[in-house]
Parts: sequence; C-alpha cells; structure tokens
Amino acid sequence: MKLFLDSALIDEVREAAGWGIVDGVTTNPSLIKKSGRDFKEVINEICEVLSNGAISAEVLSEDAEGMLKEAREFASWKPNIVIKIPMTDEGLKAVKVLSEEGIHTNVTLMFSANQALLAAKAGATYVSPFVGRLDDNGQDGMQLISDIVQMYMNYGFDTEIIVASVRHPMHVHESAMLGAHVATVPFGILEKMFGHPLTDSGIEKFMKDAGVR
Ligand code: G3P
Repeated sequence: MKLFLDSALIDEVREAAGWGIVDGVTTNPSLIKKSGRDFKEVINEICEVLSNGAISAEVLSEDAEGMLKEAREFASWKPNIVIKIPMTDEGLKAVKVLSEEGIHTNVTLMFSANQALLAAKAGATYVSPFVGRLDDNGQDGMQLISDIVQMYMNYGFDTEIIVASVRHPMHVHESAMLGAHVATVPFGILEKMFGHPLTDSGIEKFMKDAGVR
C-alpha cells in the first residue's frame, strides 16, 4: 500500500519524505492557498523533494480544452506530476485524452462508485474518493472504498484508489484492510500513526533498566 501526504506545505513534505514512508503528495487549490505560495513554485519544489513520488497538481479550468492546456503545461514541468481533475463530464473527456498521451491523472471530488466506474473507463491513473466529507454528510465513506475495490477487482481495472479526505488513523487502517492502493494522509494524522502509549512506556522502562535514564 502506498501512502501519500495530503499537503502543500514544503516543511511537512520535507519532514515526511525524511521518514522514508511517503510515496507521493496530493495538493488541491485549498491546500495551495494555505501554503501562501505560488502554485508553480510550490509544486516544482515538492517534485524535487520527492523526485520518485507521484505529485498531484489540480487544474482550475472547467472545460476539457482548458484542462488539457493546463495539464500539458504542468506535465512539462516535472516527470512525476499527476494531473488532478474534477469528476465532471468535461473532466472525463480530458482524462481520456491525457491517458492516450501517457499523462497520469487523478480524478478528484469523487463521492460514488458509479463515478469511480466512469473514471476508470476513461483511463484515470488514480481516483480520489473523499471519505471524510462523505462521513461528514452522514454517509459511510469506507463503504464507498469497499465498493470501488470490489468493482475494480471484478473487471481488472488498473486505476488505483487513493483514499482522500482522511480524518483519523482508522481511515488509513481500514483502507489497508480493504485493499485500497493508496491513502493520502494529512501530516498530523501521519504523525499520530507512529505513536502508541505502550511503545513510549516500553522505551522508558528499557532506558531505565539500561541505566540510560
Ligand atoms: O486532497 C483532497 C482531500 O484529501 C481533501 O480533504 O479534509 O478537505 O475533506 P478535506
């Protein structure tokens, strides 16, 4: 299973890259705004820090022609850029063309299994179902992941599922149990995944017994 960092903050990207467990980064317009930095500059810097990682950069156009123009430009910046495209009819038109051009795509703002089916048929490299926003809306986010995993297995689709809008470590655990390919995780939640009180108390006792503390 791959873990992506869901952030556009370069300090978080550097720190998480240093842990050696991050396979990519996802950004969106809200995360770019939070970084307070220029879009192109921050995407390129993230690509340099994680040069073997998949780095998602989102288009802002709403028509296929505009999306394709943006996508081709982003793809020319660095080889590891993945074009993030919203789940619309225009978005899928663009995904189809980009998949034929060998440009990787991540179809985002996905909230139903039928949306995931259409994106896979269009040739998406990744789809991003938003589990936290579904939970917030009174629906079961992880059930959607289970449905998409099953659907893709039934037909042997190559499209990878990125569990997005992750709100807590259990979302990551459940994603792994269901066989999702990727979870994109905010920095604070990745940090929480390291910890367990029994790990801390165990280290404390070993250090005391060894005379180090
Ligand atoms: O990257 C997209 C997604 O992870 C957004 O999460 O927390 O804004 O629902 P959130």
